[in-house]
Amino acid sequence: MQCTQEAAQKAATYYQAVDSLGGHFAVAQALNAMSRNPSFKIYKEYLSACLLREGPRSLLDIGCGLGTDLLDAQNLASGLKVLLGLDPSVQLLKTAEKRKEKQDSKGVAVGLVAGDALQLPVGNDKIDAIRVDRCLQHVDAPSIVMRECYRCINPTEGVIVCAEPDWSTFAISHGNDQLASEWPSNILNRDIAQQLPRLITDSGFQITNHRRFRVEVAGLRDLSVIFGLSSAMLGDEPHVAATLDILVISATCSS
Ligand SMILES: C[S@@+](CC[C@H](N)C(=O)[O-])C[C@H]1O[C@@H](n2cnc3c(N)ncnc32)[C@H](O)[C@@H]1O
Repeated sequence: MQCTQEAAQKAATYYQAVDSLGGHFAVAQALNAMSRNPSFKIYKEYLSACLLREGPRSLLDIGCGLGTDLLDAQNLASGLKVLLGLDPSVQLLKTAEKRKEKQDSKGVAVGLVAGDALQLPVGNDKIDAIRVDRCLQHVDAPSIVMRECYRCINPTEGVIVCAEPDWSTFAISHGNDQLASEWPSNILNRDIAQQLPRLITDSGFQITNHRRFRVEVAGLRDLSVIFGLSSAMLGDEPHVAATLDILVISATCSS
């Protein structure tokens, strides 16, 4: 199980400090594979629909990674004037910056900022829509991040949508139950899905929608890229697949 633990540890801990652990290439590959995966697309489309429903003028994506979802928002909502992506990884943001340059800005001001979700570089009440997609699982203090979101959100029209994995549902087919139960132990906040409703309401938000999606990663190549799982750990079963529930919660200000 030693190689299992090392690979799992790398795949899980890279997200906590992408640049200093030298993991930006592996993380970029994993994020691109997740963005292409049809089951990830389904929950991401739902998340974006909830986020953009009220026609926000400003949007903040916390833990924006390669900027894929942030830049997609430009094509999904016509009233947007300001898009802000925040991530601690300068390396991931370089890719986001290149993607931004290739895309027609359509008059939207797009900012990509290196920073920490624990201290958002935004004034009080300034943001209409906040996206937090699979980021809280990796931060030191999710409750501080949620308080920061509440400080920055437009108190009358603001909406926040958070998506986090429920690691208690992680399963791998073909007799890999032990591996599936060990894998999430390296995620900093592996019980984030259980904590999420409380974190949202304790910070002052009121939950408006709560949905669960199941993502599936099939085949050795994507299992290796996304979870760091190799055939040495999984055996040579060609149809091996992993599933995981993702919880998506929308909320508005209760005041
Ligand atoms: C699983 S990735 C998700 C990226 C993107 N939201 C997506 O769905 O493709 C988690 C992201 O959170 C970022 N992250 C980790 N710690 C953070 C922190 N303290 N503040 C903001 N972002 C953080 C990582 O650098 C990484 O880009």
